[in-house]
Amino acid sequence: MNKFSLVLAVDHNGTMGMDGHLPWPKVIRDIKHFVDITKNKAVLMGRKTLVSMGGPLTSRLNIVASRNFEKVRYKNFVGISTLDIPPQLHIPNERIYVIGGKTLYEHYYDIADEIYLSIINGTYYGDTHFNVNISDWNIVDEEKWKDESGVTGKFLRLIK
Ligand SMILES: NC(=O)c1ccc[n+]([C@@H]2O[C@H](COP(=O)([O-])OP(=O)(O)OC[C@H]3O[C@@H](n4cnc5c(N)ncnc54)[C@H](OP(=O)(O)O)[C@@H]3O)[C@@H](O)[C@H]2O)c1
Repeated sequence: MNKFSLVLAVDHNGTMGMDGHLPWPKVIRDIKHFVDITKNKAVLMGRKTLVSMGGPLTSRLNIVASRNFEKVRYKNFVGISTLDIPPQLHIPNERIYVIGGKTLYEHYYDIADEIYLSIINGTYYGDTHFNVNISDWNIVDEEKWKDESGVTGKFLRLIK
């Protein structure tokens, strides 16, 4: 059986996306954190997140959900036509990191046993929101940070 971790970043209102992109300017500290968590792992995403990233991530097994792969011009990913991992898909070490977007977070919220939640301080304008109810989870790690851009935030690791 696969285990699932959500990896997501939100502002104080749960805003997580804007017009197919992240709502905030580049936050290097958060990007490095994301790479540390996901490098050499299996990542699962929706087709819109694949497009928003400009294609599959290097050094990771990219699994992408879409109902119509004809629209997708990228290669080097494993396509699935449902939100669930088909049983025939073998995933090394079994944990899969769900990296968005909202559709995938909603589907996996109750299935996941771990969340890497990055909170970006402030409020940003956006069209996509996802709220994690932190009181449903146990906080096992918490780290405050300041990015070189001046943006501040904190990283939480939550488990069930
Ligand atoms: N802040 C963060 O941590 C974070 C992380 C990731 C993404 N984002 C942002 O989130 C936004 C995108 O999120 P989103 O929810 O709009 O899109 P998404 O979850 O990335 O992708 C949605 C797509 O998944 C496919 N899909 C949905 N249900 C499916 C099903 N039952 N079976 C197979 N495929 C299915 C469909 O692809 P087709 O249309 O091809 O069928 C659908 O259009 C962007 O703004 C992005 O920048 C933020």
